[in-house]
Amino acid sequence: MPTVIEAKDLYKTYTEKRGLIHRKVKRVEALKGVSFKVEKGTVFGLLGPNGAGKTTTVKILSTLLIPDKGRAWIMGYDVLEEPEKVREIIGVSLSVERGFFWKLTGYENLKYFGMLRGLSGRELDKRIRELMDLLGLLELGADTKFYEDFSLGMKARLSLARALIHDPPILILDEPTLGLDPASSRHIRNLIVQLAHEEGKTVLITSHNMWEVEVICDYVAIINKGRIIAMGTVPELKRMVSREIPIEITSYAGKLVSEDDLEKIVKDALGIERVAVKMDKQGEVRIRILVENGMEDNVVNKALEILRARGLRILEARVMEPSLEDVFIKLTSGARS
Ligand SMILES: Nc1ncnc2c1ncn2[C@@H]1O[C@H](COP(=O)(O)OP(=O)(O)O)[C@@H](O)[C@H]1O
Ligand SMILES: [Mg+2]
Repeated sequence: MPTVIEAKDLYKTYTEKRGLIHRKVKRVEALKGVSFKVEKGTVFGLLGPNGAGKTTTVKILSTLLIPDKGRAWIMGYDVLEEPEKVREIIGVSLSVERGFFWKLTGYENLKYFGMLRGLSGRELDKRIRELMDLLGLLELGADTKFYEDFSLGMKARLSLARALIHDPPILILDEPTLGLDPASSRHIRNLIVQLAHEEGKTVLITSHNMWEVEVICDYVAIINKGRIIAMGTVPELKRMVSREIPIEITSYAGKLVSEDDLEKIVKDALGIERVAVKMDKQGEVRIRILVENGMEDNVVNKALEILRARGLRILEARVMEPSLEDVFIKLTSGARS
């Protein structure tokens, strides 16, 4: 898959002047060498806590901010040298409220921004209807409601519609679901995945919500204090934190087999030493197995087979996966600033 977004060694320091008489200059190193690549047709997540440098990165990629050092390309166009080209091929949603007209309806707002993109007449009208439908805005009455009467969720949906108005191959979305109601968040998440996986668009999102990134992103870069501290697919990132994954199986043995016998059976059949079996008086057994990361699916299947072959009824089988939160905590504990 071709790379369509690339950031290379981006640096950005903000300077803030403070105080009227005793002028002090405060420097904030927002980015300290950020690099990553995004492949076509994927959802890429830039994940990090508040102040990590997500918005700064996104603004540089969207040609809205100039880095102190480093370069970035969108579909081969340099964001510093060919910003107009870049703006043609990206759809950007930064902050939901930015730039919309309060006294215009959702429809009229989109018409205005569509015209800025050189669209007009029936084509634009059709595009607006399609987008409002796609974003669930028609059923919310956004075509006739004034923007000032929109809920936060409607504003976010409209912002995404505006980013899509010229049908760009690339979308750059800064915290697209921040603060939204569950229905709007879900709608936007589903749409993002659909745009990438079904329409081949490339989507870069930022988020501080680990769960969200985990469910929608194909590839994740974790950013903290201006540096990328880890990158990979969600399973790859999880593999970084723990080399051993606990599996828990609950089943019903009744009087078929004793606790000790079962432990020996499972250990021998799996060839794994770290197996613990606990049986209660009613004959319900809990089996805990520690497996090497990456082997969990095989081991679960095999363990279930063994139990069934012995006539045990399976009640539950769980692979206790580490979460992205575990990854983040592990990587940032003791991190340099
Ligand atoms: N315009 C600005 N002036 C001064 N400092 C800024 C400005 N914008 C962002 N910062 C600082 O830069 C750092 C990174 O900010 P930002 O990129 O907005 O992070 P994020 O989007 O991950 O929350 C933070 O410490 C923030 O306070
Ligand atoms: Mg931000």
